Amino acid sequence: MLKIPFYKPSLGAEEIAEVVDTLRSGWLTTGPKAKQFEREFGDYLKHKHAIAVNSCTAALHLALEAIGLKAGQGVIVPTMTFAATAEVVRYFGARPILVDCRVADLNLDVADAERKIQSALAAGQSVTAIMSVHYGGQIGDVAGVRALAQRYQLKIVEDAAHCCPAFFRESGEDSWQSVGTGADISCYSFYANKTITTGEGGMACTENDDYADRMRIMSLHGISRDAWKRYTTEGSWYYEIIAPGYKYNLTDIASAIGIHQVRKADRFHRRRSELAGLYQELLQEVEELILPQVLPDRIHSWHLFAIRVQLERLNLDRAQFITELQQRGIGTSVHWLPLHMHPYYRETYGYAPHDLPVACSLYPEIITLPIYPDMTEDEVAYVCSTIKDILARNQTAVSGSPASGSRSAETARR
Ligand SMILES: Cc1ncc(COP(=O)(O)O)c(C=O)c1O
Repeated sequence: MLKIPFYKPSLGAEEIAEVVDTLRSGWLTTGPKAKQFEREFGDYLKHKHAIAVNSCTAALHLALEAIGLKAGQGVIVPTMTFAATAEVVRYFGARPILVDCRVADLNLDVADAERKIQSALAAGQSVTAIMSVHYGGQIGDVAGVRALAQRYQLKIVEDAAHCCPAFFRESGEDSWQSVGTGADISCYSFYANKTITTGEGGMACTENDDYADRMRIMSLHGISRDAWKRYTTEGSWYYEIIAPGYKYNLTDIASAIGIHQVRKADRFHRRRSELAGLYQELLQEVEELILPQVLPDRIHSWHLFAIRVQLERLNLDRAQFITELQQRGIGTSVHWLPLHMHPYYRETYGYAPHDLPVACSLYPEIITLPIYPDMTEDEVAYVCSTIKDILARNQTAVSGSPASGSRSAETARR
């Protein structure tokens, strides 16, 4: 039996040599390697400023601080996201206003966001920002988010944790634009399972000099480098604290890994795209599955390959499906239990599951399959044949219609 973990980082001799070089250099914390990683990452995704931090969560926190979020203000957050996107809003005592997703790509539904903004405003609450998340690495409705931001004067903080790299095109245009275009601040994750990794790490990117200065200062205890420069005659020991900042800097050890990961990002992306293509090819005929769609004018990063299983056609539930895959050596995950269905958000804001009906109804069907650059074609084929086998052995015997009968027979043959 093959053993296929849900993810595996792709690390080579280059990363190892750079880490060893860092260890030998004697400079372990933030220093020259972090600077180099920032430069190379910023160049790669065409950002003017890139600030390396120790997680995407830290980057999102710094971004909201830089745009001036205050207690009591509302921030639009998709419910279909990871904990980090909304928890950073709570750090300020501000209010995450959770919004439903679209069926096609599980990204934020802009029409629902507008409804939620209007009800907040009608209730006398302010709305300050919108956080767009690009589910699995496919960029959402950029034009819709921008139009909304203009209409309601919202800052756009992009949670681009899954998007190194991902691209979009305005409808009718030829040229591709990188993730981050048009956002006030974009935040990336280098957590171990991400498209490029430093183990733990993140990057806060912006074109705005003021946001960049603020994020840099706040990422290291609120210590002003300008003040430091101004007073160099005082000696290198001198610094000034201009705000109570955080300790979010990325170490040179982690950055040493990042430097080589970003150089490999295009190669990793090509490989992920090939593997996603192979999944699509091998699973496209399986009627019990809904495969991820690539929407027009989008280039997917393929951080996640999330399928939806039509459970009403089967005798097993998703948990059993996942257990069967696990027993046959295949690691999977679920992205995600929508935020409004978690106890904290239910209890704090009184959400009921069907308040955001699309996310609530799609979530039970989602299973995320393994995809990473070092995965082989044989491994993808094994995952697909195992899925087909589980489906074939767990068909509901009921419906009795000729169409469903032939579907089962066909599935059993595959
Ligand atoms: C959409 C999204 N945002 C933010 C994060 C947080 O990233 P980090 O672990 O680097 O803080 C994740 C992590 O999985 C994520 O999936």
